[in-house]
Amino acid sequence: MSVFRRNKSRRTKQGKNKSISVPKQNSTWPKILGVSAVILLPYAYLLMKIDGEFKRSILMNGAFSFVGFCITLSMIPVASRYLIRRNLFGFDLNKKGTPQGNIKVPESLGIVVGIVFLIVVIVFLGVSMLLPHLNFIANSTRLVQYNSALTSIGFMILLGFVDDVLDVPWRVKLVLPLVAALPLLMAYNGHTAIVIPKPLIPYVGLEMLDLGWMYKLYMCLLAVFCTNAINIHAGINGLEVGQTVVIAFAILIHNIMRIGASTDNAEYQQAHLFSIHLVQPLFATSLALLSYNWYPSSVFVGDTYTYFAGMTIAVVGILGHYSEILLLFFAPQVVNFIVSLPQLAGIIPCPRHRLPRFDPNTRLLMGTHDGTLVNCCLRWLGSMSEPSLCIVLLSLQCMTCPSPQAIACSFSFLVWWLLVGWYK
Ligand code: UD1
Ligand code: MG
Repeated sequence: MSVFRRNKSRRTKQGKNKSISVPKQNSTWPKILGVSAVILLPYAYLLMKIDGEFKRSILMNGAFSFVGFCITLSMIPVASRYLIRRNLFGFDLNKKGTPQGNIKVPESLGIVVGIVFLIVVIVFLGVSMLLPHLNFIANSTRLVQYNSALTSIGFMILLGFVDDVLDVPWRVKLVLPLVAALPLLMAYNGHTAIVIPKPLIPYVGLEMLDLGWMYKLYMCLLAVFCTNAINIHAGINGLEVGQTVVIAFAILIHNIMRIGASTDNAEYQQAHLFSIHLVQPLFATSLALLSYNWYPSSVFVGDTYTYFAGMTIAVVGILGHYSEILLLFFAPQVVNFIVSLPQLAGIIPCPRHRLPRFDPNTRLLMGTHDGTLVNCCLRWLGSMSEPSLCIVLLSLQCMTCPSPQAIACSFSFLVWWLLVGWYK
């Protein structure tokens, strides 16, 4: 049993002589729900514009997702008590030296989100099968896709929880998502060709280049990247869940726009509908988790959540047939990965936690020389408080996601728009 008795901070020799107190759950959820309702307005507007059958299916999935939101909200305090009892907790390293830094914060609450997500999707699929006019999985190819998606996501939830409990070595963490992605690749029946940019066509002599197995390898690597990218762009309250919520929202907008714009291609619409069926529950359950994980966090999400969220996003990108665009949504994570490379590759020593330095007197965070986007932001913009830093990083994420909110100031929307007009 002792193998389950763990505490990540204690391993870093920072958890000695800490007082024990179960954290109070914060009550930011009405605010989060209110803000999301406003944010979701453009999505609701676009939804009203699309075809009847698709709209009904999305609305039904939305209703299931809302139930998932409520269940997650009520289950997190219950699961927190069980996790603390099993010694699955951590200390908030960005509050070290203050009374808040001595509180045991339950870890791995991603397990609640993951399980509720799976239940919502499975029950939704079951109910859809019973309703003939909404039975979009009557086609066996689609059923295989839903099942393979659930297999890959379920496998990552398991791996994430095992990592939270046992602390899996990095090389294993890198290999297992490859295995988890295999069911996806077997179910993938989309294109394996890339469009050659128009200016290069005269030199290449082709408009499309079929990459065959190399395209599948790229999708495998994408799954590995997505699962690890969210996990290493982390460490400040609300960042892991916040980035997932922003990316999920951008994906929802992208999907609904593509469904509306592809009325002549039913297969393409179905692929985006599939994506919405998984992203809505991810968005809803993650919002519930965010209300507890927002500053000051009363729960930590653990690798269970980061792996689950990363794999779910990879799954919808791959089986929704927009894996290239997905990388645009991940722009901050790509930058974070690039600046992290020297430490990940072992060229520069990599400490267990690559977090900013916290000054308990000013309660501000200062950038360190560890290669993360969090530290780069602090070095460029100067010291700031933890919630301000999280808002800056999430704003950056919004700017790189082509959602209506970000259109006015979005660099990547511009890139995306240019690519659609010029490249494709
Ligand atoms: C990854 C990062 C590591 C970062 C950690 C924070 C790499 C290679 N690894 O490691 O640098 O420090 O995530 O999640 O980039 N914590 C906080 N405040 C938070 C969230 C987490 O203090 O808002 C601390 C807690 O002590 C918590 C621990 O981080 O117990 C969780 O760390 P874990 O997710 O296990 O770290 P890794 O994913 O291995
Ligand atoms: Mg982690």
